[in-house]
Amino acid sequence: MNARHFLSLMDFTPAELSGVIRRGIELKGLRKRGELHEPLKNRVLGMIFEKSSTRTRLSFEAGMIQLGGQAIFLSPRDTQLGRGEPVEDGAIVMSSMLDAVMIRTFAHATLTTFAAKSRVPVINGLSDDLHPCQLLADMQTFHEQRGSIQGKTVAWIGDGNNMCNSYIEAAIQFDFQLRVACPEGYEPAERFLAQAGDRVKLVRDPREAARGAHLVSTDVWTSMGQEEQAEQRLARFSPYQVTRELLDIAAPDVLFMHCLPAHRGEEISHDLLDDPRAVAWEQAENRLHAQKALLEYLVEPAYRAE
Ligand code: CP
Ligand code: NVA
Repeated sequence: MNARHFLSLMDFTPAELSGVIRRGIELKGLRKRGELHEPLKNRVLGMIFEKSSTRTRLSFEAGMIQLGGQAIFLSPRDTQLGRGEPVEDGAIVMSSMLDAVMIRTFAHATLTTFAAKSRVPVINGLSDDLHPCQLLADMQTFHEQRGSIQGKTVAWIGDGNNMCNSYIEAAIQFDFQLRVACPEGYEPAERFLAQAGDRVKLVRDPREAARGAHLVSTDVWTSMGQEEQAEQRLARFSPYQVTRELLDIAAPDVLFMHCLPAHRGEEISHDLLDDPRAVAWEQAENRLHAQKALLEYLVEPAYRAE
């Protein structure tokens, strides 16, 4: 199988990632100017969602329509995947009819298993391990507002979850320093930390992570699939709430990002998304533009310099 996949930021070179982000900014400009750009006419994206979604579904579906193609929403509840048809078999059949497949799943192995049998590009729309599409939007947002992130300091405050793991990969690929502040027992997986070496520093104190940072980012304390741990997590994470006061010790031009959905009063204070340093809405919109650039790159070979 020689289709290119995007299961992790590590599947692309740093130059490819920068190219996608630059193109996301261009596509955003085309859309703002009302210029039609439909390179994916007659192309179809299948979207398998094992977990809920607002932004990911909408941005991929709207993105495909805007690029001239279509997207089909597939829920395991209504497909044979949910009744035990092997993922490999699903991959062979689906990829014979589709031009790309986006999967939001629990086990990351579902993505790698599907991709191994897929004739078309497979995109990770979030797994328990990673959320690379969100990082494309986050990096586009930073680039638009502050320029290159290379050499900057980023603070991740809270759970060492799928978003945190993707920030670790982003630190490697976009060349920034990452400080992760999380409670004991909620660190990102060792395999992600190990590949980052001294680009990532683990600390316990959120203030130590945030001090002087150019970007502060967080996420929910209880991710999808962890609902039964919600109560114990709430207690464990309460010192990790991101507040305006925490941003005050960051760099004067710090940006605050949240992939959303947010829980005000938990991982962020009630007022944080109203703070001028917060760019969560811009980030959410950029899911559309960055993923359109990704789709164009993966599905339409004319956009790939190879
Ligand atoms: N940030 C994000 O992926 O949002 P959804 O869960 O709504 O897709
Ligand atoms: N960490 C969160 C991200 C949601 C977009 C989750 O996996 O539920």
